[in-house]
Amino acid sequence: AESRLWGGRFTGATDPLMDLYNASLPYDQKMYAADLEGTRVYTQGLHKLGLLTSEELSEIHRGLKQIHKEWADGKFVEKPGDEDIHTANERRLGEIIGRNIAGKVHTGRSRNDQVATDMRIYVREELKKLAVLLKSLIEVMVARAEKEIDVLMPGYTHLQKAQPIRWAHWISMYATYFTEDYKRLQQLIERVNVSPLGSGALAGHPYGIDREFLAAGLGFSGVIGNSLVAVSDRDFVVETMFWSSLFMNHISRFSEDLIIYSSGEFGFVKLADAYSTGSSLMPQKKNPDSLELLRGKSGRVFGSLAGFMMSIKSIPSTYNKDMQEDKEPLFDSLTTVEHSILIATGVVSTLSIDAAKMKAALSMDMLATDLADYLVRKGVPFRETHHISGECVRKAEEEQLSGIDKLTLAQFQQIDPRFEENVFETFDFEASVERRTATGGTAKSAVLKQLAQLKQTLNK
Ligand code: ARG
Repeated sequence: AESRLWGGRFTGATDPLMDLYNASLPYDQKMYAADLEGTRVYTQGLHKLGLLTSEELSEIHRGLKQIHKEWADGKFVEKPGDEDIHTANERRLGEIIGRNIAGKVHTGRSRNDQVATDMRIYVREELKKLAVLLKSLIEVMVARAEKEIDVLMPGYTHLQKAQPIRWAHWISMYATYFTEDYKRLQQLIERVNVSPLGSGALAGHPYGIDREFLAAGLGFSGVIGNSLVAVSDRDFVVETMFWSSLFMNHISRFSEDLIIYSSGEFGFVKLADAYSTGSSLMPQKKNPDSLELLRGKSGRVFGSLAGFMMSIKSIPSTYNKDMQEDKEPLFDSLTTVEHSILIATGVVSTLSIDAAKMKAALSMDMLATDLADYLVRKGVPFRETHHISGECVRKAEEEQLSGIDKLTLAQFQQIDPRFEENVFETFDFEASVERRTATGGTAKSAVLKQLAQLKQTLNK
């Protein structure tokens, strides 16, 4: 028990399996930089209180720098008793600068406020990285949409052909989802970025440390106003995984669309070789594995969120070891999201489209609503025109015509005498799309406006 930071009151050794079960160092060493930075600023706070001399402080900071270098170079040597990143760093500091000085850094601090601080620093930095990556995914999508603004495709509801839309409108849809994710991410970073440090184990700091000073030194925007909350709040972990889950949900739907569009039956898009794989048996196959993984991994991220919610739902206040279970799902979610953004960016920037196939998939019955609108423009109530247009569709089917546009004027007029020669102008996909100029619609001007707005949001 000698080698342990908390060994004083213990006489018996812990079960070796218990040591293994308890250890978080294998995964929380990711936070080594945050942990060292937390200690650096915390000891400045102790120095301000007169609890460390200037000489002691500079020794401590020298030691912390060296430990940082050891981790960065992959040379940090783990020892038995290193339960987690906090104990490992403190143990090492003692070896470098002597236990007399190192033994003072934890004055008034607990691993409870320490780990909460480390996690918030770590998550903040990771989320900032994700924001940069997400922004470039959206920019790639917007650029693609602008370039391919003239391409038309079928829009679907229930996966049934519904109305013609611009391909750029489809891209803009997901770019809009991702931009909402981007905005949500900025708000999340703000909530993550508050400081628990100086709250002690739970009750607060016994030497009146300047928590605002500690917060400012660590780049936090403020302090958490209740020490019990400060040490035990993991809402920021839950929220990060919720954000990740929602984002992956959008990525998953986006992928599903592209999987469908890349099938032989649709043939609207072709994935680059870089993001496809072949079959070990069927030589002709080219599978959209990148998209399937994006879709599949969304389940894993949501599983992390659900799992951790279960872990913490009934723990009493304040710190309990259950909370150590926050790390693996959180880290896994962050890594999965990061890789997913990069893969999605690669897929979008390299896929090719087949505009002719998209156009060929448009069918005249997709203009049945436009036909109803034709009569609306002549003053007929929509409920009535909807019915009339439906009769035209049925008539064309009965006559086994290739589409409603093949009905003769006489046949149209038989159904409703208000049809005139210019009814045939309705049967133009481009014209249909270009009528939808209202904000958010699929007309060229409306789509370009959406894209301009997304860019504006990203550059705010
Ligand atoms: N490794 C621990 C965790 O991640 C650090 C906090 C330990 N605190 C304690 N009171 N045992 O949660």
